[in-house]
Amino acid sequence: MQFKAIRGFKDILPSQVGTWNRIESEGKRIFEVFGYQEIRIPMLEKVELFARGIGEDTDIVSKEMYTLTDRKGNQLAMRPEATASILRAYIENKLYEGHPVRKLFTIGPMFRYERPQKGRRRQFHQINVEIIGDPGPKSDSELIYMIMYFFSALGLHDLVLHINSLGCLDCRAPFRGALKDYLKKYGADLCPDCQIRMEMNPLRVFDCKVERCIQVIKNAPSMLGFLCHDCAQHFDALKAHLKELDVGFVVNSHLMRGLDYYTRTTFEVQTQELGAQNAIAGGGRYDRLMKEFGGPDTPSIGFAIGVERVVELLEEQGDWSEAGPDLFLAPLGKEAENKAFIWLQELRKAGLKCEMEYRSLGLKAQMRHADRLKARKVLIVGEDELVKGKGILRDMVTKEQVEVPLDSVVSELIEMKERNWI
Ligand code: HAM
Repeated sequence: MQFKAIRGFKDILPSQVGTWNRIESEGKRIFEVFGYQEIRIPMLEKVELFARGIGEDTDIVSKEMYTLTDRKGNQLAMRPEATASILRAYIENKLYEGHPVRKLFTIGPMFRYERPQKGRRRQFHQINVEIIGDPGPKSDSELIYMIMYFFSALGLHDLVLHINSLGCLDCRAPFRGALKDYLKKYGADLCPDCQIRMEMNPLRVFDCKVERCIQVIKNAPSMLGFLCHDCAQHFDALKAHLKELDVGFVVNSHLMRGLDYYTRTTFEVQTQELGAQNAIAGGGRYDRLMKEFGGPDTPSIGFAIGVERVVELLEEQGDWSEAGPDLFLAPLGKEAENKAFIWLQELRKAGLKCEMEYRSLGLKAQMRHADRLKARKVLIVGEDELVKGKGILRDMVTKEQVEVPLDSVVSELIEMKERNWI
């Protein structure tokens, strides 16, 4: 009997882990510089948390959650996103005490029962970042500036930033009314789901993937035309800050995002290179959610990056190949093998990534092995080298060779590594 991973769940193989680690470590480095702290939250939460937070009528809650009932009859869900859990943790652990503004990030798997396709999985990973406690718009632009800086630090450039404003409760109500009136004119043309959405939560018609609904929504009224004075000022200030920070953007008045908690600023970073799943990150402001969860009235904003999609883009660029060892030790004969075995451990302790083949092989076979591992340098030590007291250090790309004194070989190699020669 052979087992296979569940549909939409994928292994991350050793050849890919390097890319994953580099994305995460670059993220952590940048977030720390911008003043964020890491938080780790559970994988399971009460269903109610997501239903209340994300919204009952959203696809995520109504169709995509992995739910289960535990032995006590509690309804639990595998987290489909992190924001609701972060707010729950913030309130439960009183993270507001002594910190009027909290900047948090978390990295980990999320679960949504969607139809798997390129860039879409049922278990996927997000880098999730939140600023809790500042009403913006400086926070909004700082957050967006940071996400774009993060992508450029990874070497991703052809990305388009879409921004929009969903207004506040005051300006959303007349917009909902106008949208409902507009949708009613096309009632019979809409899919059965959207006919219900039109009544219950007309903004969610924007999320529909059915072609005839997409066509109807194309000419729907724009939220931007309904912004109240304060929301319009907020959006204008955001655009001005982004211009000052030299961050390019397009205003996309149809960017509604698939979650109910957003107010004012929403944004998405899109790419042309991944087909239908073109959003590599998305986020926005959710000023009312904390209060809805019973916490202090705390305006907040955040985003999440889809790590699989970023990995795919980097792999398509092809410049993040698996890094090989710094050094491969190629001893010939028993005495050299025993010495090299000790050097190997000492060099590793000093932080050099080294490999050696323990089966006594000839030089040709060892060089082939070093090549397969993509080692940068090979240290060759045969009987002649032992007699001379000098090993040969060969560069696997340029084929250049230099001699290294064997009585101080470990410190010599460490120094070379420090000078970036290895
Ligand atoms: P979201 O737009 O649902 O937002 O997800 C953010 C990103 O996660 C997407 O842009 C996409 O890159 C990735 N993603 C979503 N679903 C999948 C999937 N099935 N497979 C692969 N990648 C996926 C949120 O989750 C919000 N919580 C973001 C946020 C944080 N808003 C405020 N704070």
